Amino acid sequence: MHPIPVSAEAPPLQPPDGPLHLRRSGTSLLIDFRTGEPAMLHFGADLGPRIPELSLLSDPVAHSSLDIPVTLGLIPQASSGWRGRPGLRGHRNGQSFSARLRVVSVELQDDGCSAVVTQSDPDAGVTLSTEIRINDGGLLQLRHRLHNDGSDAYRLEELAAVLPVGRAATEILDLTGRWCREAHPQRIPLRHGTWVRSGRHGRTGHDSSLLLAAGTAGFGNRHGQVWAVHLGWSGNHESFVETIGDGRSVIGASELLGSAEITLAPGTGYETPWLFAAYSDAGLDGISEAFYAWFRGRPHHPGARSGKPRPVVLNVWEAVYFDHRLGTLLELADAAAGLGVERYVLDDGWFRGRRNDHAGLGDWYVDEELWPDGLTPLIDAVTAHGMEFGLWVEPEMASEDSDLARAHPDWIAGPAPRSAGGTSSARLPERWRHQQVLDLVNPGAWQYVFDRLDALLTQYRIGYLKWDQNRDLTEMGHGGSPSVHAQTLAVYRLLDALRKAHPGVEIESCSSGGARVDLGILERTDRVWASDCNDALERQTIQRWTEVVVPPELVGAHIGPPTSHTTARTHDLSFRAITAMFGHFGLEWDVRQLQGAERSGLAAAIALYKDYRGLLHSGRMVRADEPDPSLMLHGVVSHDGTEALFALVSVATSFSEVPGRVALPGLRPEENYRVELVYPAAGRGPTFAQVHPPAWLSPGVEASGRFLAESGLPMPVLNPEHGLLLSVRASGGSASGSGAGAGAGARSISGNSGTLVQHG
Ligand code: DGJ
Repeated sequence: MHPIPVSAEAPPLQPPDGPLHLRRSGTSLLIDFRTGEPAMLHFGADLGPRIPELSLLSDPVAHSSLDIPVTLGLIPQASSGWRGRPGLRGHRNGQSFSARLRVVSVELQDDGCSAVVTQSDPDAGVTLSTEIRINDGGLLQLRHRLHNDGSDAYRLEELAAVLPVGRAATEILDLTGRWCREAHPQRIPLRHGTWVRSGRHGRTGHDSSLLLAAGTAGFGNRHGQVWAVHLGWSGNHESFVETIGDGRSVIGASELLGSAEITLAPGTGYETPWLFAAYSDAGLDGISEAFYAWFRGRPHHPGARSGKPRPVVLNVWEAVYFDHRLGTLLELADAAAGLGVERYVLDDGWFRGRRNDHAGLGDWYVDEELWPDGLTPLIDAVTAHGMEFGLWVEPEMASEDSDLARAHPDWIAGPAPRSAGGTSSARLPERWRHQQVLDLVNPGAWQYVFDRLDALLTQYRIGYLKWDQNRDLTEMGHGGSPSVHAQTLAVYRLLDALRKAHPGVEIESCSSGGARVDLGILERTDRVWASDCNDALERQTIQRWTEVVVPPELVGAHIGPPTSHTTARTHDLSFRAITAMFGHFGLEWDVRQLQGAERSGLAAAIALYKDYRGLLHSGRMVRADEPDPSLMLHGVVSHDGTEALFALVSVATSFSEVPGRVALPGLRPEENYRVELVYPAAGRGPTFAQVHPPAWLSPGVEASGRFLAESGLPMPVLNPEHGLLLSVRASGGSASGSGAGAGAGARSISGNSGTLVQHG
């Protein structure tokens, strides 16, 4: 809980004269104050500078209803007649259950795109201030702070952030999943009623809806209107879309609070997580653009603009699991360096007593038996190769079989308080992966973990932490009360403190794969591990949908061994490489024995990633609305439109004999481009089911952006679970001519005439 200082004197009532209209990057939020309540009239497309006389636009009053037009407040409230989900639920021992918040001040910031709206209800004894901003790129952020002005405790049950959705929306899309199958989309029609996604995992969750969207019928990757939200929070949460009886729809989210989890003492307050929201009239790609712009605008954002390109990673987990032997790990370092790897990550198994996943969590000391000389021999070898060293940790957990749990049974979180010494009889939650959760709300436990991690980061040259979290927080309690909220904030504090103490260290958020992917954790970490599944076919979907919100430079994507450890599917190297290319690229494979074409193919893929990472990690993500469900086409186009890299992926066999012309959208219509196959190179897959390929594939072809988007290129018949990469570069000249700039022997397609002109 965040105590919020508030001045003793209530601010004077200042109902603003006109509406508040925040506009930026094609998005508007319009708030009207005429009733004394901040009424949200519009969130969506930019309305332009001129707003009509709002008093003329009041809604009619229907039969058998409230006698006034019902407003949708910044906090929807029953006191204004809102009969949908209330924005604020709370009470004082059963009293003051219904607030009537009215605006007391509106502060518009100098940029004209952010404001703080303060409302108060002196009778209920609460003040609420709402911070709203529209960022460059159109991403809206909104959060509330509730302050208890009363003289007794206020029990908060829910404080939600909501926004209106346009009437044109008829469909809902969100994501769900499970371990090794995160971030899969599901769609349902938008009907009267409420669609709620609740996450009670104590962490974000494998099934979390990273994005909840409502949109026009059939909205796709690049068409349709979409309103989308994400809650930047790593604990329990709900997101919802609701259509009430009068036909209005809202979309929003809130932290999901446990019974009596938040009790505000007089003079204290509660702050909601940020709600992130975007509107697009160009489908989900427009939503991604808003999120990417926000991420990439952060001063600490890693990647292309930071001057430190995202390094090629080797993570040793699937190569050795718990079998840590210095000799093997050194061989892996040699092999990795020879391939062009830039960051070497030692995964689980290096600390005291950790030979399997039954023991050791919490004992964050290098295991003296396994590592008699500490980690130094390995780190020296890794850094001598010019690679950065990374280390796996799971700081929020404890094994019951650990020195930590034996010494501090009261540090293990559970539904009832546990005694400090000896054996505690209090019941523990069911184990998950044989482990329990450390109660980081306990200052002693928090300090112990901080000190151990700080000591490791101080003693060793560690540039990267893979910060894992491998269980749901079931029955999470501190001192006998629910504590997911406090634990989540304690984890944030721990990350913040370590980052402050070791500013050069990057941190990855891993949570049994992708169970903690959210903008709360991403404010304090540098990438997420999207899934424990390295199967390239599964990854195509997992990455595509994770990257609707999170840009690829923050999404770990590794080439695993030929046969996936989690699905037993086998894929050739080219498909695995093409898949990993559209993320933060790495390897998770025992690369010691690779030889011949496999080794040189992998080295070539790594070199290609290095060539393209500047583009991949700064450009606009484009996902085609490919009509053939057996194909996926996505790419990254530079912001100036001069360069792009597209992947065409076959995920299944097709109904059709040949793919036909596949559109490459998102380029500049009037620009001439040269399109070439860049990967895989000859002899390194993929395999095709065709007698001969389309003629253009081998020399490349020139075509206008308009032609590529509207007509497309005939594509080869890829076998299922294969893919290819196409480089697209502006070749100079506008597309209004007849193919000027085509290389000798190249086939040139002129943009405007619609005729195919072949040279050579
Ligand atoms: C789960 C992670 O997701 C894996 O990548 C690996 O780090 C294991 N934990 C180690 O226990």
